[in-house]
Amino acid sequence: MIDKKGMKQMKFKIGVIRGDGIGPEIVAEALKVMNKVAEKYAEEFEYEEILLGGASIDVHGKPLTEEALAAAKSCDAVLMGSIGGDTNTSPWYKLPADLRPEAGLLAIRKGLGLFANMRPAYLYEELKDACPLRDDIIGDGFDLVVMRELTGGLYFGARKTEEKDGVLEATDTLCYNENEIRRIAIRAFDIAMKRRKKVTSVDKANVLDSSRLWRKVVNEVAADYPEVTLEHMLVDNCAMQLVRDPKQFDVILTENMFGDILSDEASMVTGSIGMLSSASLKEGTFGLYEPSHGSAPDIAGKNLANPIATILSAAMLLRYSLNMDAAADDVERAVKEVLQVGYRTGDIMSEGMKEVGTSQMGDRIAERI
Ligand code: IPM
Ligand code: MG
Repeated sequence: MIDKKGMKQMKFKIGVIRGDGIGPEIVAEALKVMNKVAEKYAEEFEYEEILLGGASIDVHGKPLTEEALAAAKSCDAVLMGSIGGDTNTSPWYKLPADLRPEAGLLAIRKGLGLFANMRPAYLYEELKDACPLRDDIIGDGFDLVVMRELTGGLYFGARKTEEKDGVLEATDTLCYNENEIRRIAIRAFDIAMKRRKKVTSVDKANVLDSSRLWRKVVNEVAADYPEVTLEHMLVDNCAMQLVRDPKQFDVILTENMFGDILSDEASMVTGSIGMLSSASLKEGTFGLYEPSHGSAPDIAGKNLANPIATILSAAMLLRYSLNMDAAADDVERAVKEVLQVGYRTGDIMSEGMKEVGTSQMGDRIAERI
């Protein structure tokens, strides 16, 4: 598209999944920031609202419709808040498992082919006090990224519950083929090349066949990246090393279930899960971007949620899907500045700082773009 000044202007279509719980509030703040970016860089973002999770169940009776999936596919990237409700009280959890909010999330990941989930975990200098680790362990901080395989393994293997001779038995299957392992390994090594050039591949090769295949394929991929140091680590040891010495990690590469668990642990050791973004990617530039945290139904609608993880997810979207590195840098810088001048939401509040709500935090960041 050519604008009035004769400058080339790109028009990007961005899917917006507001979702459940605090999702709508935090997405609204990320869109404030995106709109400032559009203005500054004379780009045009067209937003397409997409229903997922509980929000979709309420309207369509299921957590993801064919239309919603098709809409997401037609976008350059998707920005998502969070989905799901209180599993004890929400009526969504009275539905069969395949109609609950989380099933929609798994279906959209699979339907869009998003096999690579990137979850950065780093320590913010300004929020060091929130880190639960001792000062001597923190040292001068840590900065790692979990690359989690997202469309295979236990999450998507055949499962069943049956009764055998009056005894209930449930089965889940963990299956990976070498191609699924290779493509996520390649993404992990590519990312390591842009970072500190170290990959820690995490498995349970002392027990599981799927892990032994994982190790073999990762070793093969590593041969194409002579500059990257590869180490293999067993998952139980990794869980321990993350709290013992998180500085040793650069890129952690692992399968779906291990990645689910280790990424929660990695985000917790930073002390600021409300700050951490994530990207779910495939080949090419399309991606779905969402905060690492959940939908926090207990504080929904109260202007209490921290929108920073979602705003930083929008920065990842700008960087990886729209190739707008300068804009992504702007967003990350604005977040840092706002922390430096002392604005905090309740979850990261500490003495002497200025406590603000969700929308004020969004305003403070957007005005610095
Ligand atoms: C996550 C979440 C999901 C997962 C749930 C909500 C299905 O825990 O994104 O880590 O296990 O992948
Ligand atoms: Mg999880």
